[in-house]
Amino acid sequence: MCGIVGAIAERNITAILLEGLKRLEYRGYDSAGVAVLDEAGRLQRRRRSGKVAELEQALKDEPLAGRLGIAHTRWATHGAPCERNAHPHFSGDGLAVVHNGIIENHEELRTRLKGLGYAFVSDTDTEVIVHLLHHKLKETGDLTTALKAAVPELHGAYGLAVISADQPDRLVATRSGSPLVIGLGIGENFLASDQLALRQVTDRFVYLEEGDIAEIRRDRISLWDNAGQPVQRETVQYHEGAEAADKGEYRHFMLKEIYEQPKVVQRTLEGRIGQEQVLVQAFGPQAADLFAKVKNVQIVACGTSYHAGMVARYWLEALAGIPCQIEVASEFRYRKVVVQPDSLFVTISQSGETADTLAALRNAKARSREEGGYLASLAICNVGTSSLVRESDLCLLTQAGPEIGVASTKAFTTQLVALLLLTLALGKVRGGLEEGVEAELVEELRRLPTRLGEALAMDKTVEKVAELFAEKHHTLFLGRGAQYPVAMEGALKLKEISYIHAEAYPAGELKHGPLALVDADMPVVTVAPNNELVEKLKSNLQEVRARGGELIVFADEEAGIENGEGTHLVNMPHIHDVLAPILYTLPLQLLSYYVAVLKGTDVDQPRNLAKSVTVE
Ligand code: F6R
Repeated sequence: MCGIVGAIAERNITAILLEGLKRLEYRGYDSAGVAVLDEAGRLQRRRRSGKVAELEQALKDEPLAGRLGIAHTRWATHGAPCERNAHPHFSGDGLAVVHNGIIENHEELRTRLKGLGYAFVSDTDTEVIVHLLHHKLKETGDLTTALKAAVPELHGAYGLAVISADQPDRLVATRSGSPLVIGLGIGENFLASDQLALRQVTDRFVYLEEGDIAEIRRDRISLWDNAGQPVQRETVQYHEGAEAADKGEYRHFMLKEIYEQPKVVQRTLEGRIGQEQVLVQAFGPQAADLFAKVKNVQIVACGTSYHAGMVARYWLEALAGIPCQIEVASEFRYRKVVVQPDSLFVTISQSGETADTLAALRNAKARSREEGGYLASLAICNVGTSSLVRESDLCLLTQAGPEIGVASTKAFTTQLVALLLLTLALGKVRGGLEEGVEAELVEELRRLPTRLGEALAMDKTVEKVAELFAEKHHTLFLGRGAQYPVAMEGALKLKEISYIHAEAYPAGELKHGPLALVDADMPVVTVAPNNELVEKLKSNLQEVRARGGELIVFADEEAGIENGEGTHLVNMPHIHDVLAPILYTLPLQLLSYYVAVLKGTDVDQPRNLAKSVTVE
C-alpha cells in the first residue's frame, strides 16, 4: 500500500527519490516524505500531508541534498494522514525508517519502549520500529546487526528501509509480507517497493524473498535469508522501457490503459495459441500432466480480479465441464474449507502482492501437503516477480504491462483472456470440450484485439452518455449469465472513481427487491450481447421502463433493442458470445472514466484507495 524508495550513491539522490515516489504514488497518496543524510552528516527530513506534489514543492522551497536517503508515500493505516504521522520516522536525530505494512504488536512494543525512555511523537505503528532499532543499535553498534536483532520482535507485515547518520556507508532493509526490490546501478544502488520506481536509474533488479535482510552499500549488496544465512538472489534484467510510467498523450493513466487493451490482449495471447489450439505448455512444463488430473477448480481473488474469476466460472463449467467454485480471498482465508477432490487452486491478481490472496494461497499450499488437499496452485498474475507467482506451482502471466491507474482496466481484460486460455487448456487435456470449440475460440481470440479496437472507437458516444450521470447519486448495473460479473465490474469502476453509489444485480433478481429503488433518478446500465438470454433481459428492461427508470443499454446490433424514450442505446460490434464479457467491459470502463472526469474527481488516484493492497 505505501511506497518505499531508497538510494545510496556518489551523487545527490534527492531527485531520484522524488521521481521514485511519483512513480509509486499509485500505492498511497495521503502524505509523503524524504530523509537524506546531508554533506555535514546530519539527517534532514521533509514531510508533507497530501500528494507527492506537496513534497516536491517543499523541496523546492527548502532543498535537500545528500548521497544516502529514503523516501515514502503513505496510505494511512494507523494514525490520521497528517504531517506528524508521515514517514520517514526518526528516533533521536540520527536514525530514520520508512515502512510499508502493519506492525500488529505495536501496542506492546510501544509500552516496552516507553519504559526504556523513548518518547513517541506520532500515532503510527511504524514509530515503534525506529525506536526498537535505535535501542538495538545502542546495544550492538552496527546497523545491520541491529536490524537482524529487531526483526524477530516485529509481528505483522513489513517492508522496511533504514538509514543511520552513524553508518553512512549503507542502507539496510527487510521484508515480510510487503514487497521490496533492490535496483543495481554502477557504483550506486537503490531500493523500492516496486521496480517501476527505479526504472529511471536501472534495469537490473534483485527481488527480496520473505524474511530476507539486505545491506545495501554503494558498491555491493549483502543478503541474509529468514534463517540468518548469507544468500544470493537472482538478478533480473527488465527489458520494457521506462516510458510505461508515462501518461504520453493521454490526460489520465486510466484512459491510456483502457486504450492499451487491444495491444496487451494481443501480447497476452502471443506464444499461448497455435494455429487452431491453445498451447498447454504455456502454463508450465508440468501443466499437461497436472491438468489431466484436475476434477475441480477453486478460484480465489479480490476486487476486479475476483470479477474476472466469476466470469471464468461460467466458462469452466459451460465449456470445459469442470465444476468451479470462486470466493473472495478475505473470506476464503479465514474459512474452514472442504477441499473438493483433485482441485486446482487458482489465484488471480494484477499485483501478485495482495495480502488476502497471498494468505489464501499459503493456506491452500498448507492443505496441499495434507491427504486430500489441493492438487496444485496456479497464479494468473501480471507481475512475474511477485510473491504470488514465486509461491505458486504454475503461473500464466498476463502481459498487461505496468498498470498505474488505481482502477484496474487492462489487467482485468488480460486476466479474462488468460482464464479463457485456461478453460480451453483444461477442457482439452481432460477431453471436456465439444468438437471444434477449441479451434473456433482460438480464431475468435485472434480477432479479439481488432474487436476491442472497434469498441474503443465508440469513445465519443460513451462520453456523451456519461453526461446522464453527472447529477446522479445511485446507479444499478444489470447483466445475465457471464455478463453479470461484467455488470459487477462496471459498478465497481463507477463507484471507485466517480464516487457514485453503484450496485450490480443479475437482471433476473431485479424483481426480488432492487426494483423498489428504480425511479427517474436511478439510471440502470445494462450489457446485452445477442445470446439466448437476451429475450429474458429485454423483459427485465421493460420492468425498469414501466417504473420510469432510465436505461443505458450497451447492446449487440442484432439484439433487437431500440433507442427510444428513456432508453439510451449504444450499439456494440458483434462478437462471439463466449468473448462478449471481454468486449462489453470496455464501454463500462469508458463510462466510469467519463463520469469521473465530468465530476472532476481524481481519476488515477481516487480517494481512500491504493493500488496494491498489501495489508489486510
Ligand atoms: C479495482 C481494483 C481492485 C483490485 C484488488 C485486487 O479497480 O483494482 O479491486 O482488483 O485490490 O488487486 P490485485 O489484482 O492486485 O490482487
